[in-house]
Amino acid sequence: MKLRDRSVAITGAAGFIGSNLADALVGSCELLLIDNLSSGRKANLARTLKGPRVRFVKQDLLGAGLRTALKGTDVVVHLAANPDVKSSAEDPRPTFQENIVGTFRLLEACRRAGVRGFVLASTSTVYGEAKKVPTPEDYGPLMPISMYGASKLTCEALASGYAHTYGMESVVFRFANVVGRRSTHGIVPDFVRKLKRNPRRLEILGREPGTSKSYVHIDDAIRGILAGVDRASGPQDVFNVGTEDSIFVKEIAEIVVRELGLLDVSFSWSGGVAGGGWKGDVRRMVLDTAKLRGAGWRSKYSSAEAVAQAVRDVGASH
Ligand SMILES: NC(=O)c1ccc[n+]([C@@H]2O[C@H](COP(=O)([O-])OP(=O)(O)OC[C@H]3O[C@@H](n4cnc5c(N)ncnc54)[C@H](O)[C@@H]3O)[C@@H](O)[C@H]2O)c1
Repeated sequence: MKLRDRSVAITGAAGFIGSNLADALVGSCELLLIDNLSSGRKANLARTLKGPRVRFVKQDLLGAGLRTALKGTDVVVHLAANPDVKSSAEDPRPTFQENIVGTFRLLEACRRAGVRGFVLASTSTVYGEAKKVPTPEDYGPLMPISMYGASKLTCEALASGYAHTYGMESVVFRFANVVGRRSTHGIVPDFVRKLKRNPRRLEILGREPGTSKSYVHIDDAIRGILAGVDRASGPQDVFNVGTEDSIFVKEIAEIVVRELGLLDVSFSWSGGVAGGGWKGDVRRMVLDTAKLRGAGWRSKYSSAEAVAQAVRDVGASH
């Protein structure tokens, strides 16, 4: 699949990954940036919107007008979602609506508008507690342990169904935890916020030393999308995007403390289930990225380096 010189729409464009992808693509293709601004911010797109051949539309995937907005689009990169794993356990309905219904509506609008390419942001959580770690793309059976993971696996299946039935081409990226500039959710912004409020004590959800997972920096994730899309072969292709190592939550806390220049911070663990975080939180995750590396991609940062860089990025904007 090609993005260069094509007409590309990004959903969730004002969010963390979307705005960074828009920055990377501006100038090389015609860009339609779609977001309902529910959690994303138009300010994230300030630089991109000054570029050539860029348009922003405030549009909800669950609202009317999607098909009209997509007329003339070659490829849709679908990033809009409710990305919160933890809240999907408290009430699964918003996750179902935003992720599953939203993706179905978008695919249907693509089919009717004649969009041929579909790129989906999926997640490592589709693997659940995988017995094989690092986990390759062809691992199965896929049994997510969270409603968020279940919703994303459903989105992958929908994209596959549309690709095979309607002659579209789909590329799925299963991301590890992505960290870095403009991230507003997840462990790094959470720890930074808490430590700015109380620099002596950090409350950590889970049981020491917490889960052990791969954290990939946003710059590596964006280069991964570009490399994978370039290499993908249809009707549907799937790529893991992550680092080859993992770190414990406790190490993340130590890195955040160090990067913020704090001393004598006590860690207080609470509410954890055996072996890690909360219910629905995968305990151990490292993705096998051999397939993406076969497309010439390498992650520049290790998990620890990605987190340290993310604290500098995120800390600067708090
Ligand atoms: N950040 C990660 O670590 C990570 C890891 C794996 C997968 N993902 C996936 O990558 C994608 C992007 O994640 P992110 O971290 O940038 O999230 P984000 O919350 O920063 O961005 C999502 C954007 O989608 C928009 N949006 C939400 N619902 C919408 C709707 N109904 N219509 C239009 N716009 C809507 C929001 O306003 C926001 O700007 C998501 O699909 C997420 O599930 C993220």
